[in-house]
Amino acid sequence: MAGVDIGTSNTRTIIAQQVRGEENLRVIGVSVTPSVGIRRGVIIDVEDIAKTVIESVESAERMAGLSIKQAIFNISGSDIEFANSKGVIAIGRADGEVCEDDVNRVIAESQMIQLPMNKEIVHVIAKKYRLDDQDNLKDPIGMKGVRLEVEALVIESSSTQVKNISKTAYQAGIEISDLVLEPLAAAVSVLTKKQKELGVVMINLGGGTTSLAVYEEGELLHTAILPVGSGHVTNDIAIGLRTSVEVAEKIKLEYGSALASGVDKKDGIDLTAIDSREDGVVSRHHVAEIIEARLEEIFSLAQKELTSIGKAGLLPAGAVLVGGGARMMHINELAKNVLGLPIQIGFPIGFGGILDKVDDPAFATVSGLVLWGRQYQTEEKHEGLARIKAFEVFSRHSGGTMDKVKSLFKKFLP
Ligand SMILES: Nc1ncnc2c1ncn2[C@@H]1O[C@H](COP(=O)(O)OP(=O)(O)OP(=O)(O)O)[C@@H](O)[C@H]1O
Ligand SMILES: [Mg+2]
Repeated sequence: MAGVDIGTSNTRTIIAQQVRGEENLRVIGVSVTPSVGIRRGVIIDVEDIAKTVIESVESAERMAGLSIKQAIFNISGSDIEFANSKGVIAIGRADGEVCEDDVNRVIAESQMIQLPMNKEIVHVIAKKYRLDDQDNLKDPIGMKGVRLEVEALVIESSSTQVKNISKTAYQAGIEISDLVLEPLAAAVSVLTKKQKELGVVMINLGGGTTSLAVYEEGELLHTAILPVGSGHVTNDIAIGLRTSVEVAEKIKLEYGSALASGVDKKDGIDLTAIDSREDGVVSRHHVAEIIEARLEEIFSLAQKELTSIGKAGLLPAGAVLVGGGARMMHINELAKNVLGLPIQIGFPIGFGGILDKVDDPAFATVSGLVLWGRQYQTEEKHEGLARIKAFEVFSRHSGGTMDKVKSLFKKFLP
């Protein structure tokens, strides 16, 4: 099983194995490669990002001592859209017992919606089923009836982004076994069932995006991808201190803090120690002020999303922060101040094997991709999530074209 997380700052690959008798997936290959050709989660240069993916996959393959043919990829970009839809079917079996095929058919039915221009369906999430007059069913399989109805949430992403991921994977010689929206993948690896039951928000602070996923009563309530991330913090430091972006990034990682009030105003950072081409001493307090201002803006945007669904300050299990940006010192205090929620930093759960690298909030997305793959290999359905297997055309030797992807998608259009 393999996952490839194409991120704005980094592309990560995990290769894992399900070993009989072991509950956790065993990680056998891991890699992180700086990304080229992607901005705010959106692929802007397929050639460049394909090279990044090849480097990342080959590096994980070397560690694992095997090569992979297919992987689950993430999809990001802030232009996602949602639609509520319904599907209705007649139960297939003569005795009226609902089987998996009925559930698949009713979900396929719910995908027959008018798609906005340049959008593709990436997820169809079954919220609840109704079997004749029994409503609010989570799992109708095994029950008996005549008419099955589903209420589903359809998540759509930009067609260009879907195409560019397909092209990238094709150029890299990897078949896409599934595409998962980044925040949903990250949520899979760090949130517990209990947190999702109580009410929780996962916030992923990436390099170019901040994505979030809100759950309550075990169900996905809301998800969003905001086009601002931890890379903007670096840019602000570069502008504020008039240094290069590289130096600003080093300052952020080594001396940064999300809370200016915790930093002594007399503390200085000697720039020559960071880069011999720079000179002068900058105030560490000032650096923290720059970081705090940007992160406060990011958390306020996240809070706006929570307000839009009436959940601001109302999620008992609080917020779980992941992504590279979640490693910033004192970020939990700042997040708590802005969101008014208990805060935790999220680490991937459910893995064994080579763990030193994976045990990191920045690995939440790629870990989630691999876990997503396992869920669908071992169980046909999971927590009402359904997916479209429209990405299986690109194998190393298929000679597949974009038209094939298109024709597959057409199946789901009215
Ligand atoms: N220790 C740290 N302290 C603060 N920030 C950090 C730390 N480590 C990494 N970061 C920041 O995390 C960001 C990268 O995070 P991540 O790798 O999760 O992003 P990505 O997945 O590539 O991007 P995106 O998800 O937005 O497409 C960079 O801006 C980096 O500066
Ligand atoms: Mg990311």
